[in-house]
Parts: sequence; C-alpha cells; structure tokens
Amino acid sequence: MKAIRHLGITITDREKSLHFYRDLLGLKIVIDTHESGEYLDNMSALQKVEVNIIKMEADDGNLIELLCYKSHPRRPDPAREICSVGPTHVAFTVANLDEIYEKLIRAGVIFNAPPQLAPGGRFKVTFCKDPDGTLIELVERLEEEKIPENLFSVRDKIILITGAGGGLGSKIAAALAERGAVVYAFDISFPQTEEKAINNLFQLRCDVTNDSLFKNICAGIFGKHGCIDALINCAGVAITKEDKNCKLYSREQWDKTLNVNLSAPFACSQAVFEHMARNRRGSIVNITSLGAERGFPHNPAYGASKGGLKILTKCLARDWGKLGIRVNNVVPGYMGAGMTEKTYNNEEIRRIRSANTMLGRWGSPKDLIGPVVFLISDASSYITGADVPVDGGWLANGFPDLEGIE
Ligand SMILES: NC(=O)c1ccc[n+]([C@@H]2O[C@H](COP(=O)([O-])OP(=O)(O)OC[C@H]3O[C@@H](n4cnc5c(N)ncnc54)[C@H](O)[C@@H]3O)[C@@H](O)[C@H]2O)c1
Repeated sequence: MKAIRHLGITITDREKSLHFYRDLLGLKIVIDTHESGEYLDNMSALQKVEVNIIKMEADDGNLIELLCYKSHPRRPDPAREICSVGPTHVAFTVANLDEIYEKLIRAGVIFNAPPQLAPGGRFKVTFCKDPDGTLIELVERLEEEKIPENLFSVRDKIILITGAGGGLGSKIAAALAERGAVVYAFDISFPQTEEKAINNLFQLRCDVTNDSLFKNICAGIFGKHGCIDALINCAGVAITKEDKNCKLYSREQWDKTLNVNLSAPFACSQAVFEHMARNRRGSIVNITSLGAERGFPHNPAYGASKGGLKILTKCLARDWGKLGIRVNNVVPGYMGAGMTEKTYNNEEIRRIRSANTMLGRWGSPKDLIGPVVFLISDASSYITGADVPVDGGWLANGFPDLEGIE
C-alpha cells in the first residue's frame, strides 16, 4: 500500500493563489474543477457548498488541494469546518532554497527571515505566507557532504618553494613534483634559472631577499597558470659563531639572519597574497625550528628570526583567513640533513639529541613530506595559524631517556 499525502488549503483569491503556488513554487495543476451538490454538502458538513477545487502536484508526487469556496451560507458544525488557515502550516521541500527565496522576495512575498540552517545542519529552512496568510515552510534537504577520495592530493597544484636547493627543501620539492604538483623551486645556490621543467619541477635562481625579483616571478607564474596554490618558505640560514665563549654577536650576522629567515618569508607571502586572494584559495607553509620554541645557545639571531616567523604565521593566518588563505608552521626537529648534517655526523651530539627525542632517533627529510603535503592539500582545509611539530616528540618531552637515570 502506498500512502498518498493530501492536504487542502482554503484560499480566497484564485488568481493570486495560482500565481503563488504554480508560478512561484512551481506546483503543477492536476485537476481544476467546480463542485457543488448533496455529495459535497455531506462530505464537508456544510450546506449549499460551491467550491473550486484545484488539485496540484509537487515534484515529489505529493498533492495539495486549493479550495476556493464560492458559497457556503451556513456552517452548522464549526468544529468540522474545513480550513487550513490558522495554526496549520504546509511544508514544501525545494531543491535550491536560496534560489527560490530570491525569486519569491522579488515577487513581493514576505518572509520571517532569510533561509537558515536548522539545528543539526541537515536542512535549510525559511517561512513565508501564501496570499491568504497560510504559513508556508520551505525546506532544502542538504546533501551529505562527500569526502573526496583525493583528500591528500597535491596533483596539478602550483607550488612555490624557497630554499629548494638545500638539504630539506630539495627533498620536499622533488616529493611534491613526484606527486603531480607543478613545483617552482627557488634557491640562491642554483647556477641558473631553468626555462624548462624537469619532472614537473622548475629551478629558479633567486635571492629571496630581493623582494621585487620574487614578486615579478610570482606574477609571471600566475599569468601562466591562473593560480598559485601554495608557497613553502623554506630558505634559511644559521650563522653560528666559531668562538663559543664570545658573548657578542655581530650586527651583520643579525641582519642577514633576520633578512633571510623572517623578512623574506614576509615579502614572499606578500608576493603570493594577491594571487591567492583573487582565487579565494591558498596555503602558505613556513618552516620554523625548535629555535622558535626554546632558547638555544650561541645564535640569538636564529632563535629570534624563527620565533618571529612563528608569530608572523599566526598574524597572517588571522588577516588572510577570510580570504581563503591558510598559513601554518612546520616545526622540524633535528633532521640530520642540511644545516644539521654536521652535528648528525658527531656521534656524541647525535646520541644526546636522540636521548631527548621521544621516538629515540633523529628525523630525516622524508619525515617532513607527509606533514607538508597535508598542509598544502584539502585534508587540512580547516587548519590555519597552527604549529605542526615534526620532531619525534622532542618538544613534548619532559625528560631525556638517559639509561639508568629514570
Ligand atoms: N635541517 C634541520 O635539521 C632543520 C631543523 C629545523 C629547521 N630547519 C629549517 O629548515 C629550512 C631548510 O634548512 P636546511 O636544513 O635544508 O638548510 P640548508 O642550508 O641545506 O638549506 C637552506 C637553503 O636556503 C638557501 N638560501 C639561503 N639564503 C637564501 C636566499 N637569500 N635566497 C634563496 N635561497 C637562500 C640556501 O642556498 C640553501 O639551499 C631552514 O629554514 C631551516 O632553518 C632545518
């Protein structure tokens, strides 16, 4: 058995009601008749009834009847009066509530409020009145959001990475290109700019402290592809003093470190900003350091620059979030490559640092690939302003794992 839901609505002005239900809500007329006589009087408990019945069908097959009474001079039994005007309301499901709301508003229909998400988030709802004041609820059932299969994909994304000639940057750039991204790899150490991509990767010789050069290159990339999806600020310097007893630090060392590690990520982010903002989409990943989180000896410029970068990330995330641009930090621990390769090769230092790391080992550049891919891909679409430590638990550790002491 199939239940037929069927509802009668009393109307007073046929033309106005037809305009509302047929022209604006899109219901189809199935039957349009005039009825009167003994049968109707008996059924309605009224006398000498004459009514125009317009049966209308909604998209989902449900029926309503518009009942326009021409005459019913006596109502012997008010308790059995047929009338939907009053506390009753009629709900219609619609495919696109915003669209129909705009249409009805333009036709002069009055609404209680614009369409709103109902509690639970599965329906969008609004209420208006038909020409006779019957309350009409319009409901859009929201599709369950599908989680895309390629959530972690960077394929075809246009990604810029600085410091891509270094121990960490080179591995990150190659891994992104291998996963189908178009990678623009910047480094001051590259002998020249390669016009042609090799395996999806363009090498560009560029000093990231040269703001206008980087900005012009970005404009060219945007002109070619129509988008810049991600920027990874990975270029960095750590100028350590040989004389560990000296407590003075040169201004030159300070300036260079701050320029490369902090001012350049700021300027590079500014350079991609307008392109990302235009598409309302973009991810910026800044590579900070344990030095952004703790006080380390002999290189205050490095710590200050990375600490500055950590907070710069949060400030840009705050300012650019509503434009669809996410900004996050990756915080590498001891990766045993690039600028920590030398210390990794010192057995004693290696042992002590491993003992301070929960996972009991140094990292490697490949440990950074997953977190960077994650922060660039849609998998992290609700993450911004965050620090993502990739440090084997070094920062979270409360006590070194020194044999016999625990
Ligand atoms: N290696 C680690 O263990 C480790 C740990 C924490 C943080 N980091 C950070 O990771 C990033 C990469 O470090 P790495 O270990 O690969 O060091 P690296 O020295 O091997 O690489 C840094 C790269 O930056 C480039 N660079 C420096 N100045 C530049 C400039 N003005 N313009 C363009 N390129 C410039 C260098 O040429 C180099 O290729 C750095 O920001 C560093 O602070 C590294």
